[in-house]
Amino acid sequence: MLVYLNGAFLPPGEACISPLDRGFLFGDGVYEVIPSYGGAFFLLDEHLERLGRSLAGIRIPEPRPEEGWPRLLERLLERNPGGDRSVYLQISRGAAPRDHAFPAGATPTVFAMVSPIVPTRPDPAEAGIAAITLPDQRWGRCDIKSVALLANVLARQQAVETGAVEAILLRDGVVTEGAASNVFAVHGDSVSTPPLGHAILPGITRQFLVDSLRGAGWDCREAPVSEEALRSADEIWVTSSTRELVPVTTLDGHPVGGGRGYPVWQRALGVFRRARDRSMGIRETGAAQ
Ligand code: PDD
Repeated sequence: MLVYLNGAFLPPGEACISPLDRGFLFGDGVYEVIPSYGGAFFLLDEHLERLGRSLAGIRIPEPRPEEGWPRLLERLLERNPGGDRSVYLQISRGAAPRDHAFPAGATPTVFAMVSPIVPTRPDPAEAGIAAITLPDQRWGRCDIKSVALLANVLARQQAVETGAVEAILLRDGVVTEGAASNVFAVHGDSVSTPPLGHAILPGITRQFLVDSLRGAGWDCREAPVSEEALRSADEIWVTSSTRELVPVTTLDGHPVGGGRGYPVWQRALGVFRRARDRSMGIRETGAAQ
């Protein structure tokens, strides 16, 4: 395994970051997780655009690698061959004597690494995850993909300690998102996901799913999902770049939709994968149904 740090490809043990790095001291940085399938990135431009917005949101000047981000990230993938993988890319404000206010002239630290992706199984019995609900205790700019993830970390840990995988967060009686995912609720043939704004991350997978479903003629709404609507949903799904589209089997220990299965999710996964293959220029095989 080789990681990328500030211009060099190195074994992780040789990649050294100053203890004065503001990413370490303050969580003063942003990140992206970009999936790749068959060696090609999926929705790379969208991830890089969001990276630019996150950097602008916390006023870190965007580092411009000479060869450009796409080539740099491709070179990292090439140095870490394997199956489907995601690239984690983090940029912090850099190292400087500790002071909350921005330092003058710090050079941003750029770090990237590759991790395997386990593809979502089309069988809901294998793909499904348990979730719990928790109050959303995060800050007011969750649209910025900040590395300061302590509230998300604590929520995920609480989920894991109760035997679940994801925590679905509630604020003022409505769903915001998962600790590391966006949330969709299904009622009949209607699919809803909370609207964009400062309360949620504008998930790249979320947007791609919304666009794909609408393109296929589905009733897919970006509208508030109340706690009551979540609890009464026929199906609940979560989306992220590393998990695609995953059904939630139990919510706070209760079977979602009375345990009637995930027929809408199975169709949606087919729509999602066909749209993904089209957008990546992969010939349709009909395998993802
Ligand atoms: N997280 N909301 C939160 C809080 C997230 O952390 C993530 C993804 C998402 C989904 O966004 P996207 O579809 O762009 O991956 C929503 C990544 C995968 C992570 O932190 O590892």
